[in-house]
Amino acid sequence: MTSGLDGRTVIVTGAGSGIGRAAALAFAAEGAKVVVADLNADGAEAVVKEIEQTGGTALAVTGDLSEQAVVDEVTATTVERFGGIDVLVNNAGIMDRMSALADVADAEWERVIRVNLTAPFLLTRAVLPHMLAAGRGAIVNTASEAGFRGSAAGAAYTASKHGVVGLTKSLAVMYRKQGIRANAIAPGGTATNISVDADREALGPAALAPHFVNVGRVAQPEEQAAAIVFLASDAASNINGVILPVDDGWSAV
Ligand SMILES: NC(=O)c1ccc[n+]([C@@H]2O[C@H](COP(=O)([O-])OP(=O)(O)OC[C@H]3O[C@@H](n4cnc5c(N)ncnc54)[C@H](O)[C@@H]3O)[C@@H](O)[C@H]2O)c1
Repeated sequence: MTSGLDGRTVIVTGAGSGIGRAAALAFAAEGAKVVVADLNADGAEAVVKEIEQTGGTALAVTGDLSEQAVVDEVTATTVERFGGIDVLVNNAGIMDRMSALADVADAEWERVIRVNLTAPFLLTRAVLPHMLAAGRGAIVNTASEAGFRGSAAGAAYTASKHGVVGLTKSLAVMYRKQGIRANAIAPGGTATNISVDADREALGPAALAPHFVNVGRVAQPEEQAAAIVFLASDAASNINGVILPVDDGWSAV
């Protein structure tokens, strides 16, 4: 079976760097038209250039995806330029400070939940009417090992990624009769530009440190991208509501 992605339209958030960038390039290699959505304009433009240099089709939309106006712009620009939306990859995300719950400041909680969980909710809600009108669509979310366990990050990030898991499963069940599939990848450690601004002496990092054993090797972003493209493709046509670990077995330990 072919991927079926040739000529399809794909939105990838956080596509200016890391896993999102690798996914954008991989979708373009399958012949998809790619919307590179990112807060970082330089990163997004560079990825669009990379895709165009290999003969692919892409456009950048920049802005903070936790804002409704930016979400609306991404959706409207995609439909206007490419005529529809076949695949949505909610991948943009940020780390927390690895804080234990009592040490989570309001600003840390609100930002992490807003970017990691509310932004996927907003963009999915905006995109769904287009998928429903077409009678088909595939949504792939980037969850995390922290969507399975309490020992991979701080309270805010862990709660946000458990939320992404729930969002994915709810979508999978609610829309399966309308031709829409929703799945997620759950990456283990991956070599990207994501950064942690944590005080290593604080309770959170100190409490987590003993659990960072048997975590598996650090993945390359392309290994995460391959799983995203698979879940979005026709090869995964009966896969719905799955949270796929891409973690060298960490979640099996
Ligand atoms: N790298 C890892 O070890 C790892 C592990 C598990 C899960 N993840 C998840 O993978 C996803 C991708 O992260 P990455 O590791 O590639 O990091 P990255 O920092 O390399 O890329 C993330 C991209 O998202 C963009 N972004 C952040 N906030 C945004 C916002 N509000 N609006 C629009 N764009 C925004 C950034 O500008 C950046 O280009 C995230 O959801 C992250 O939580 C990463």
